[in-house]
Amino acid sequence: MLIIGSPTWDIGQLQSDWEGFFSDLDDIDFNGKLVAYFGDGDQYGYSDNFQDAIGILEEKISKRGGKTVGYWPTEGYEFDQSRALKNGKFVGLALDQGSQSELTDERIKTWVAQLKTEFGL
Ligand SMILES: Cc1cc2nc3c(=O)[nH]c(=O)nc-3n(C[C@H](O)[C@H](O)[C@H](O)COP(=O)(O)O)c2cc1C
Repeated sequence: MLIIGSPTWDIGQLQSDWEGFFSDLDDIDFNGKLVAYFGDGDQYGYSDNFQDAIGILEEKISKRGGKTVGYWPTEGYEFDQSRALKNGKFVGLALDQGSQSELTDERIKTWVAQLKTEFGL
């Protein structure tokens, strides 16, 4: 079971700590792994790239066999485009500390409870 996070930075990019490590993911076999994602982004300032980073990570890791858990609904957010959408949901927990920090604690609590079920814990 893996929980992976990144804010989105530089207009639709992974946060820079991932540089030099992202390509290493190509050498990892994620088959048999349940993988959950969380990100921080700014839905109003970067409405065309909201939460792209977790979409980039999920795309790579699921291609390498990881099974995504922890999908998150888009209700309560306002944005135009996101690479983090799959089947109408975010591929993981979408936080917006800039504009919706008052919702963060409750979102985390709900998501963690969901993950416990999906991880079978
Ligand atoms: C230069 C810059 C580029 C950003 N690009 C994006 C983006 O493309 N998509 C997004 O959702 N958020 C974007 N953000 C918002 C950041 O993800 C958000 O500010 C950050 O997660 C909050 O961390 P902080 O409190 O350290 O600023 C960007 C922020 C900055 C300053």
